Amino acid sequence: MKALVIVHSYHHLNTAKVAEAMAKVLAAKVVSTENAADETLAAYDIIGFGAGIDSGRHYAPLIRFAEKLPVVSGKKAFIFSTSAIVGEEKLQSDHAALRTVLLSKGYEILDEFHCRGFNTNSFLKVLGGMNKGRPNDSDLKAAAIFAEALKKRMA
Ligand SMILES: Cc1cc2nc3c(=O)[nH]c(=O)nc-3n(C[C@H](O)[C@H](O)[C@H](O)COP(=O)(O)O)c2cc1C
Repeated sequence: MKALVIVHSYHHLNTAKVAEAMAKVLAAKVVSTENAADETLAAYDIIGFGAGIDSGRHYAPLIRFAEKLPVVSGKKAFIFSTSAIVGEEKLQSDHAALRTVLLSKGYEILDEFHCRGFNTNSFLKVLGGMNKGRPNDSDLKAAAIFAEALKKRMA
């Protein structure tokens, strides 16, 4: 199984840490959106798409990248993110924009993951930020367990 993880992460590289934890399990290559070329995606059996959350959706460069992808037929994908606030409803709404694009491109989304990320956006900076230290070891363990489950499904 060939896996690729595409990630856009800049605020504190929180999502990049999650991407690496997943990639280790999946023996995946990790690329940033700037370095991802849509024509090379065809070589992979499963592709992960992840970013931090800004204004209730994945970072715009990742969504724009997905919007430009060619249509595929049932290629396996997964979605992940880090954000200030988490929860099942939050995951559903934060991932909706990217999910809609990927589904419209013909991707089959096997599963979705999110966890907390350190956030010093705006006024939080003067307060020392929120979610200091996140993702932590247990978040990264959860990301690895998520990836193990994907690997089993792909076997
Ligand atoms: C400009 C900006 C906007 C953000 N908007 C949200 C948001 O709408 N909801 C949320 O839960 N977190 C929000 N956050 C927090 C980030 O999603 C969180 O810190 C994330 O872990 C950053 O990921 P990164 O370090 O991989 O870039 C925002 C952060 C920034 C810098």
